[in-house]
Amino acid sequence: MRQQYRFCSPTRILRAVFPVLLFAHLFSLLTLSRAFAQTPIAAALKPTHPNSELSDSAIEARVEELLKKMTIEEKVGQLVQYSAGQPTGPGTGRTDYADMLARGEIGGLFNIVTAKDTNAFQRIAVEKSRLHIPILFGLDLIHGFRTEFPIPLGISATWDPQLAERAARVAAREASATGIRWAFSPMLDLARDPRWGRVAEGEGEDPFLVSAFARAYVRGYQGRSLKSAESILACAKHYVGYGAAEAGRDYNSTEISEHTLRQYYLPPFRAAVDAGAGSIMSAFNSLNGIPASANAFTLKKVLRQEWGFQGIVDSDWTSVGELMNHGIANDGATAARKAFQAGVDMDMVSSLYHEHLANLVHSGAVSEADLDESVRHVLRAKFALGLFENPYVDEKKESSAMLSPEAVTLSREVAEHSFVLLKNDLLSNGSPLLPLSDDIKSVALLGPLADDANQMLGSWGALGNGRDVTTLRSALVKKLGGTRVHFAKGSEISTASDAQIKAAVDAAKNSDVAILALGENGPEMTGEAASRTNLDLPGRQEQLLEAVAATGKPVVLIVFSGRPLILPWAAEHVPSILAAWFPGIQAGPALTRTLFGETSPTGKLSMTWPRSVGQIPIYYNALNTGRPSVQNDATPFPNGHDEKFVSRYLDESNLPQFPFGFGLTYTTLRYGATELNKSELRLDWIKEGLSNTSSSAPTPLQASANITNTGSRAATETVQLYVRLQGTSVSEPVRSLKGFQQITIAPGETKRAVFSVPSEAFAFWNDQNIYSVEPVRVTVWVAPNAASGTPAQIEIRNKAN
Ligand code: BGC
Repeated sequence: MRQQYRFCSPTRILRAVFPVLLFAHLFSLLTLSRAFAQTPIAAALKPTHPNSELSDSAIEARVEELLKKMTIEEKVGQLVQYSAGQPTGPGTGRTDYADMLARGEIGGLFNIVTAKDTNAFQRIAVEKSRLHIPILFGLDLIHGFRTEFPIPLGISATWDPQLAERAARVAAREASATGIRWAFSPMLDLARDPRWGRVAEGEGEDPFLVSAFARAYVRGYQGRSLKSAESILACAKHYVGYGAAEAGRDYNSTEISEHTLRQYYLPPFRAAVDAGAGSIMSAFNSLNGIPASANAFTLKKVLRQEWGFQGIVDSDWTSVGELMNHGIANDGATAARKAFQAGVDMDMVSSLYHEHLANLVHSGAVSEADLDESVRHVLRAKFALGLFENPYVDEKKESSAMLSPEAVTLSREVAEHSFVLLKNDLLSNGSPLLPLSDDIKSVALLGPLADDANQMLGSWGALGNGRDVTTLRSALVKKLGGTRVHFAKGSEISTASDAQIKAAVDAAKNSDVAILALGENGPEMTGEAASRTNLDLPGRQEQLLEAVAATGKPVVLIVFSGRPLILPWAAEHVPSILAAWFPGIQAGPALTRTLFGETSPTGKLSMTWPRSVGQIPIYYNALNTGRPSVQNDATPFPNGHDEKFVSRYLDESNLPQFPFGFGLTYTTLRYGATELNKSELRLDWIKEGLSNTSSSAPTPLQASANITNTGSRAATETVQLYVRLQGTSVSEPVRSLKGFQQITIAPGETKRAVFSVPSEAFAFWNDQNIYSVEPVRVTVWVAPNAASGTPAQIEIRNKAN
């Protein structure tokens, strides 16, 4: 059983929030003095210097010394990056990397995955180039290197950032053994649209939760010091707004107001920067008409000036060249100039910095001072990583670094905590279907994902190998013995024959229970370039599910997916549903232990599951509208025509199938009312918390609720703190997550979850786009998910009454 874990420490929250406030105020002083006069909060001063390792004075001296020796061409070389291995995007056709390296024309390479190969390239850079500058090797370590963990959306469903940190540490150890010192991770794109395949790579829809994971991943990859041979540079991506792709179509345009950008999309990146992230990747999308990879507002003003970021801004794959497709450059030289002048330091793959940047500097179109500044960002990272001292890795140690027993156990642990129990009905005997009893006579194991090792790795599997995966079938057979497991595939992912479906139905008829492992094709239908307009089970899997359910045997549906799927029939008719995402190499053991109650599900959704594609985008922290519907059930017309002129659909409820934060476990929990220890809040208490850097500064407000375990098994529950602000200068969401903590409650026990509510819970980006607090009404919930809990109210007042 996990120990009680308290995440919402006010110290941490304030550490993250305070610098935002500081800079917001500076900005207000400089440019918005009139607006400032009206704003209720006066926080101070200047950006912090979060990347302290990157601004170390010894490193600075070495950077300057080296810079003096470099020609313009060598400087440009540091800003050039290519994929020299298995491509993850459209190729450039270049293969002459060895020659380029010897001439000092490349700063970074990626997609090279063995120590032998990284050493070979490194030897050319270090031994043959004039200035012996090492190259930085990168890779997409999205959920592991060789030890594959669940996909990030699954990891976020653990609501346990420490697990993400430990997983990232394992990935860093394994990857660094091959010479890779740069992870193109974490992906922090807030996502409200499950049609977008890349929701699999992120942490869902809520800025508070994504920010918590952002910090954890950065800590995990970068460790205590970048200099450690096992630490690798994190790269927060895709900056910014990529998750808001219109209609969920990958690479599509985005329109995000400055308010929404600052309040929702930017905070996870700010959290990563404050945690010391060494690099940021500029995104593919256009943002309000300006491509993110040529967007000086986000890259220079926000990232560099407001946040004081010292690290590398890397473009996404050919996103510099794509400025021509976006229509803001008619030739490669202009694309290179626009990206560079907007703040992109490194050109990933498009080769346009290589072709044009030196000429642009020679002609005066780009200043050498700006070039120097970008080169500093790259050199700083290389010095901080200790690459000049230790450019090579020990090839003999590479294989022993992979798949350590601790790493494999951790992968299983993370998978177990990522599963979300969406439904677990009582059977006619009065007991819930799950967990299954060890004494069960026979189980029909059906579906295309029951025994497909490669699928368990999802998208971006890095060096994950199907041979390392234990499937559900093999784990179940190991537990129950082959004769008790009646396996029939029943269907491929996208097709099925009648005979396959019949074989599955027959297997179900001959068994006590049917377990169906259904879902998406992990590598093909989720991740990049994997948008879908139908979010149901692909192929004939729905038909298979309904045919098996028609046998009358109890059905456990395990959904493997990289996104919320839309499963209205299953939600109504299938007694038990478990969202398993793509669980990684320990899929089978983790699932088997969960199905048989050796561990209980603890996961909660980090993204809303809709009832219909037509509801998308659907997210819990929406605005109330001027005509809110009062729906509280699934009926589209709760009050008949009285409900006509309200914000709702004619043919569907507004409510999701499963709300954000939702997840059941094998016991039942009863939440008591939300209680507040104060009857009013004073604005100056909050301001003090927001403006005092040294203070851990929770407000004196505590919100609490009693939670009783009314069932017969222990539970580890993620208790959530939500607030709503009313009377504000801009409309605020109907609820916003402001804290969470995990508590373990024994059967029959009542525990009190207490949140010291931090100042940040009451602050927001106001009508002048300034981070502020106002005297407003606050509603607070201590709740099991975003759609439950009892509200308590309190007013923030200017002065004591
Ligand atoms: C993706 C990035 C990835 C890069 C390098 C791009 O296509 O958008 O997330 O890091 O390729 O593989």
